Amino acid sequence: MNAVVDPVRKPVTLHRLREMHAKGEKVVMITAYDATFARVVDECGVDTILVGDSLGMLVQGHGSTIPVSIDDMVYHTRCVARGNRNAWVVGDLPFGSYQEGKEQALRASIALMQAGAHMVKLEGGGWTPETVHFLTERGVPVCAHLGLTPQSVHALGGYRIQGRDEAGASTLRKHATELAQAGAAMMVLELMPSAVAAQVQADNPGVITIGIGAGSQTAGQVLVLHDMLNITRGKLPRFVRNFMAEGGSVDDAIRRYVAAVKGGSFPDEQVHSY
Ligand code: KIV
Repeated sequence: MNAVVDPVRKPVTLHRLREMHAKGEKVVMITAYDATFARVVDECGVDTILVGDSLGMLVQGHGSTIPVSIDDMVYHTRCVARGNRNAWVVGDLPFGSYQEGKEQALRASIALMQAGAHMVKLEGGGWTPETVHFLTERGVPVCAHLGLTPQSVHALGGYRIQGRDEAGASTLRKHATELAQAGAAMMVLELMPSAVAAQVQADNPGVITIGIGAGSQTAGQVLVLHDMLNITRGKLPRFVRNFMAEGGSVDDAIRRYVAAVKGGSFPDEQVHSY
């Protein structure tokens, strides 16, 4: 696939992302943790880069995201911001940087935004809407994260599919609606049945839902960069597609991912969904 840089690509804003969603154009997100990959994925046309706390495993070698600190996230967000030109940058608030309360969340969000994030992401529902409201009122765009929330892996009993039974699905939908009402503009929906993610999107049509293992009915998709390049060691979840097997280079693989999400061929409900 052609690796030519688009000379007319403009910076992606929240307004632009909302327009894309309103028109039915899929939003493409991918993770990046450093300047080189930020530059590459931006040039390959992703709409948004997530500086995910998955860097705890992929860059730092931890077994989970739990040890990642706000200083780590600030460092990697700065690196990404230096490499990126046009993509919308979402910075993850790591475990322990927002659970104490809304003032702590604001301090951590300011640190990420001063490092170059355009939006912050925080995990969980139920207790989080108050924090989301506090942040959005103060000019911090927020991406919520529901379903499998890796910072709660021990409380959830492992990396399991969420919302499989009726009670779980209705809690997810309730939490999503509360977060949308609190002002979350974007929402990552991780590891849940496609039908539940589709319902969350239908309940909250203005929210830009970004699925990962959540089917094809969300407004956009995210994959972890190392997973889709097939350099993550160990067994990968079924929602991951190895784009490196299809492309002849990293650039090619990422361009294929962008094209597959935009064109609706990824994720495939039969192969990558629950
Ligand atoms: O940290 C991360 O990479 C994430 C994605 C899996 C959505 O939160």
